[in-house]
Amino acid sequence: MLWIPGPTEVRPEILAECARPAIGHRSKAMIELIERLDPHLPLAFGLRDGSTSHVAVHSVSASGMMESSLKGVGKRVLCVENGAFSRRYRQMAELVGKEVTRIDVTWGSGVEPAELRRVLTESGPFDAVTMVSNETSTGVRTPLTGIGEVMQDFPDTLLLVDLVSYIAGAAVDFDTNRIDFALAGVQKAFALPPGVAVVCASERYMESARRQELRGWFLDPVKLIEGHAARKTPATPATPQYYALARQLEDITSGKTLPLDERHKTGTDAWQARFEKHERMQARTAEWAGSHGLELFPQAHFASPTVSCISAGSLDVARFVAGLADRGFEISNGYGDLKGKTFRIGHMGDHMEEGLEDLLRAADEVLAQQPV
Ligand SMILES: Cc1ncc(COP(=O)(O)O)c(C=O)c1O
Repeated sequence: MLWIPGPTEVRPEILAECARPAIGHRSKAMIELIERLDPHLPLAFGLRDGSTSHVAVHSVSASGMMESSLKGVGKRVLCVENGAFSRRYRQMAELVGKEVTRIDVTWGSGVEPAELRRVLTESGPFDAVTMVSNETSTGVRTPLTGIGEVMQDFPDTLLLVDLVSYIAGAAVDFDTNRIDFALAGVQKAFALPPGVAVVCASERYMESARRQELRGWFLDPVKLIEGHAARKTPATPATPQYYALARQLEDITSGKTLPLDERHKTGTDAWQARFEKHERMQARTAEWAGSHGLELFPQAHFASPTVSCISAGSLDVARFVAGLADRGFEISNGYGDLKGKTFRIGHMGDHMEEGLEDLLRAADEVLAQQPV
């Protein structure tokens, strides 16, 4: 059972969607398939009623869309770096030729809104800010509300946000939080096989993007977002993944992925209930860690609802992870420099609280043989 911070477990009925016969991507069936996505994606991104923001899907992993997002903004980019994936975003900005300024945040923290405001004011103007809402490497969620409040005062700076291990696990509130471009793969809290990315772009981002030259072809954000609206993907899409995404979005909105006693909930209530399930799983995981004298790696107010990163202290992480694997539970060692110093549990997607209890019981057994 996969409890790593993504990819995560995929329900059998979703896997079955991937086994449907191939369809022509210029066919009526493909148009109908894309049309099944559009009522639900605004709920995932938390768009306001009457929003002018644009949703789209592209057959590429999240990293592709990180790169794509940068093609629609001007030269001066401020990158918030607080972990491995925000570092990747910064490196991409440099590699595509942006003039990059970096806010270096200690791993285990997120950027404080006051610090973001200070750098925007003192070192700006910037064309865009990049950040990762949920650093899968450290289990840090940077609350988007405080960031959005700052961005309201910098209307000429676009906010690009990686939502990879966040969307479908927590509320995004794209418009309210003044986000201009958000992207995610689907193998994390959407609990789908990898292969497509979901994106949302503000009208302000689209205007900026249309002004940029040399946007390339496959990752041109304008081409793929306008293509989605016209139900014409630029290139051959990963139709099995589109089927899986359509089914999962429908199931989330109709409450089918919720715990039994909540399955009557639908629409935004169902999405909210999914987010609350993740919050409860995070709290339970932190409580379990505390019961063994272990602490979360992030400061408490940055703790991610979908990925718990736990400081290992004197625990032999590799042995602990192997002990759990022997019992059928796969969790992750720390990422990069945090290997051996932390371990990570991905309590996201369609995992339920009963399943988490099974995992934690198994972890208790392993720890009984290998005390911290
Ligand atoms: C926060 C974050 N951003 C980006 C990525 C890259 O995603 P992909 O491997 O799908 O390109 C990951 C992958 O784990 C991630 O966790």
